[in-house]
Amino acid sequence: MHKLIINGNKELKGEISISGAKNCAVALIPAALLCDEDVTISNVPNISDVDALEEILIHLDAKIDRKNNGEVVIHSGSINNKPIDEELAKKLRASYYFMGALLGKYKHVEMSFPGGCSIGKRPIDLHLKGFKALGAKVSGDDENIILDADELTGADIYLDFASVGATINIMLAAVRAKGTTIIKNAAKEPEIPNIAEYLNAMGAKIKGAGTDIITIEGVDYLKSCTHTVLPDRIEAGTYIILGAACAKNLVVKNIVPKHIDSLLEKLKEMNVKMKIGKNSVTVKQSKRLKATEIITLVYPGFPTDLQQIMASLMTQAKGESSIDETIWENRFLNLYEMLKMGAKIEVNGSKAYITGPTKLKGTEINATDLRAGAGLVVAALLAEGTTTINNADYILRGYENIVDKLRKIGADVELV
Ligand code: EPZ
Repeated sequence: MHKLIINGNKELKGEISISGAKNCAVALIPAALLCDEDVTISNVPNISDVDALEEILIHLDAKIDRKNNGEVVIHSGSINNKPIDEELAKKLRASYYFMGALLGKYKHVEMSFPGGCSIGKRPIDLHLKGFKALGAKVSGDDENIILDADELTGADIYLDFASVGATINIMLAAVRAKGTTIIKNAAKEPEIPNIAEYLNAMGAKIKGAGTDIITIEGVDYLKSCTHTVLPDRIEAGTYIILGAACAKNLVVKNIVPKHIDSLLEKLKEMNVKMKIGKNSVTVKQSKRLKATEIITLVYPGFPTDLQQIMASLMTQAKGESSIDETIWENRFLNLYEMLKMGAKIEVNGSKAYITGPTKLKGTEINATDLRAGAGLVVAALLAEGTTTINNADYILRGYENIVDKLRKIGADVELV
């Protein structure tokens, strides 16, 4: 596992360009298997989650050409629908999108359960509820999942929770089913319309993506298409928060401000000064930050993926800030690491309380998951002295070229 060594409290300024969205790319790549021809996807971030998906495609005898400009061409005509073993499936949560894609095209899937991680048990009951409604039989044991269907027939599927993964996976399984599928209480995260646009470019018939009712009319054939991954709203939010915490002046560009509206509103409540452009935000360190409270909700509410990064900014805000994490049952592990840096934090069930402003001191800490790691990078950049972040590979899963991007704005950071 790599470590990040950060000497904090430097003057940061300049520009950061945001990459393609991880949580979009990790669905678009497996979904390519639904196509009867080649697909080209551009603006794919160069991150280890994409490397892991590439390994699974190769395991299935698909061919994938990854250019170094973020363009990926996937030839999936000749795939061999083999079981996906634990070693491959456990590498990332999003391996579960191969269920929807392979079921949708071949009516058969065998794979090990996708990787959970430390933020929670991460069940897939809603995904399976959708697949069964479409006519799939689910078998296997508590390690392996087998899905089989003689035929997939459109159905009405109500999601008890507006699950991002279940919404996307059911969409993938439904695009080639016979008849019409309606997903009710669908997730509305911006990645979903982007994935629907990609499938429609292949000839799928999906309406309502981005709203809570998605209608999918099954088709028999999906043709070649080219598609662009939308900017990563969580990466964008991460760097905007970093700018508010410790930059003299930071321009975060190539973003869709609307996709992080909830974050921008909360930062305004904290008295952060920002200039919001058409596809950029300019932000600078604010000396008089005010405490705020956050509750994580499905889109367009405050994203759970940004609360761990906000926690670092909250250590610099005057008063007691709070976070109510309603989505995941164990997403505060970064807070215990920040206690080692001198932060004043209390955790009580799904709520965390952060009192500031407190001076953070560099020390040795551990990344426990992707966004926890990102939050600790902000804390280390804020802190006096040197911080070593162990298990930095978690961070590399979702942040393309993070060391280069930080060095370019003056951060003293090294990956070892
Ligand atoms: C996606 O995970 C993201 N991952 C997560 O981002 C993000 O935190 C999450 O959506 C919520 O926005 C990817 O897109 C690869 P969910 P996903 O299904 O799809 C419950 C990151 O940092 N649930 O919306 O797994 C579940 O327990 C990652 O990039 C069920 O109960 O999230 C949780 O409480 C971390 N049954 C809630 O729904 C199910 O079948 C949210 O899950 C599925 C989910």
